[in-house]
Amino acid sequence: MGNENQDIQSMKQRISDLVDEINEHSYRYHVLDAPTISDFAYDMMVRELEDLERKYPSLKRHDSPSSRVGAAPSKQFEPFIHPAPMLSLQNAFSDSEILEFDERVRKALDTTEHIEYVTEPKLDGVALELVYEKGALVVGATRGDGTTGENVTTNAKTIPSVPLSLRIPKGEQAPDKLVVRGEVIIEKSDFQALNQKRLEASQAVFANPRNAAAGSLRQLDSRITASRPLRAYMYATALASVPVDTQWQLLQWLKNIGFLVNPLARKCTGPKEVLGSYSDMLHKRDSLPYEIDGLVIKVNDFELQRQLGEISKSPRWAIAYKFPAVQETTKVNDIIVQVGRTGALTPVAILEPVRIGGVEVSRATLHNQDEIQRKDVRIGDTVLVQRAGDVIPEVVSVVLQKRPDDTSRFVLPSTCPVCGSEVVRIEGEAAARCPNVSCPAQLKRSIQHFASRDAMDIDGLGTKLIEQLVDAGLVKDVADLYTLSHQELSSLDRMADKSASNLLESLKKSRKKSLGKFLFALGIRHVGQHMAFVLADRFSSLESLMAASTEELEAIDGVGPEVAASVHAFFSSERNRKLIERLTEVGVYPLEHLPDEALEQTTGPLAGQKVVLTGTLGTMPRRQAQEIIRSMGGQIASSVSKKTDLVIAGEKAGSKLKKATDLGVKVMDERQFLEMVKDFRGSQEKNR
Ligand code: IVH
Repeated sequence: MGNENQDIQSMKQRISDLVDEINEHSYRYHVLDAPTISDFAYDMMVRELEDLERKYPSLKRHDSPSSRVGAAPSKQFEPFIHPAPMLSLQNAFSDSEILEFDERVRKALDTTEHIEYVTEPKLDGVALELVYEKGALVVGATRGDGTTGENVTTNAKTIPSVPLSLRIPKGEQAPDKLVVRGEVIIEKSDFQALNQKRLEASQAVFANPRNAAAGSLRQLDSRITASRPLRAYMYATALASVPVDTQWQLLQWLKNIGFLVNPLARKCTGPKEVLGSYSDMLHKRDSLPYEIDGLVIKVNDFELQRQLGEISKSPRWAIAYKFPAVQETTKVNDIIVQVGRTGALTPVAILEPVRIGGVEVSRATLHNQDEIQRKDVRIGDTVLVQRAGDVIPEVVSVVLQKRPDDTSRFVLPSTCPVCGSEVVRIEGEAAARCPNVSCPAQLKRSIQHFASRDAMDIDGLGTKLIEQLVDAGLVKDVADLYTLSHQELSSLDRMADKSASNLLESLKKSRKKSLGKFLFALGIRHVGQHMAFVLADRFSSLESLMAASTEELEAIDGVGPEVAASVHAFFSSERNRKLIERLTEVGVYPLEHLPDEALEQTTGPLAGQKVVLTGTLGTMPRRQAQEIIRSMGGQIASSVSKKTDLVIAGEKAGSKLKKATDLGVKVMDERQFLEMVKDFRGSQEKNR
């Protein structure tokens, strides 16, 4: 009996240690973004814990990571009355409104001194309240009407960045009660992947990341919530009995006790600095991994906040400076059908041109027939159109109040509008496809893709020219491009002697590309730019990739069964093998290990600079980053010295980053790097 007791005691201790350790590593990973152990070691700990919990269910701790998996569906959410009302923010839309806000604040505080503010990105997600009692998470709730929200605790627990218990230093007491508030978001890339999956499964897509986040948080089946890539950024506490005096300190404190806090908060003195912070954020907007719709400006000092108080459900000490809208309404003048590179028929709305976020938009995708039906978009309708980041504009919804009597419904044709082939719709797939691989529309789109900058980069081969080349029968596949003669080109409409020579020159220049670019150019289904470089990283040559089995492909980190099957099928096709053979004959083939000089550019923002890449980049494989650096004129070096001009530091950057800081070498993080790339590409685009 005594022994058994001892066993139980030691099991309890082991379980407890494992929970502490796993929660700490989870914090390092999800909040600090600086893991100290491998995913494998982490998974092993979780497995050990799960085994022990199965054997000794009564010893399971309330904050065990195994309670993050979700539970069976509930019928409805219980209402939850907020311990203090959740306020909203007044909005401002211009610099002058911010200056007025600052004046109101100073007048109310009776001061002419500069006020200290904290600016934070206004995350475009869904608000979340978390209640902790004696350090343990007891409630997660939505905002609701600000007084009463919904109790979504089981769902909140599935979010990896929500701590199940607070990180309180040993020996210190957790507060009796702590109410923390923040915003739950889905990152743009996760959102797109989620929608892509839904499109393929013929499910309705989410209109935007905010809807996806809100929908995910309010799932009655928390296992679905657990499967969605949610993140919770926290920025406030209610019932303020916190050991800090300012918003700025609060953010740091929240981070220390376990919460994910947005790193882009800034401390500003006076309204001028606030406006500077707004314009910085506006510039960053598109390159951020998540959507933001403005800047929140808060008086830093809690005592001043208290003095300012609130009016009609919003604090007097804060304001939201909104960004220009990325959604506008306009009229659908027509709906046409485009045939894509893979034969997919995409309905596209032809719009009354409208400016959205500084760009004129005259077309928007309607995705597929199911989406047209679900949104019930008709020709003549007024619709809400959205343009977010680099994404193709899309129709979000119909403004039904504005529907005229004479709208006409649109039905996708049953034959390809270009070649007349009978359209097929594969069971379980949302897209209707033209099955004719020689369909001129498919050919034109594949050439366009092949010639694009991130692929073979054939300068001067634009859409109009491709149309002419295909229509005249001069080009039947991409290999034909390389056997075009000067005479053939000059025979085309509006093709001057000089342009023909230029095109031949850029075709010649385009022939030798890295394996990554070449693979991307081939337009293999499910192989985007990123995946192309993942494959290139793993295989040293095109031949070895072509010989790879589905199993070998699937064994690569980041390659799923779908991609593996698609790559394998592509290279098994007789037609594709012939094409690659023909490309080789005309001198087009990938060179994986190009000597540096072959890729180096002498111009660009990094011209003549020695650049060291360290750590892992979240947005692209290493080889791709190296290529981009070279295309901007940089030379890749492997170690950091006084001669190094720039260090680009990704995640888990270690000794090289330290050395760079010690030597005072300029360092950029991934985001700054991406911004530079974007600027560079923007300027290139203008010169094209
Ligand atoms: S503070 C009393 N900070 O915007 C002030 N709100 O209209 C409470 N939001 O309901 C809000 N990012 O859902 C604050 N950094 C941020 C925010 C933020 C997004 C949302 C939040 C709030 C709404 C205010």
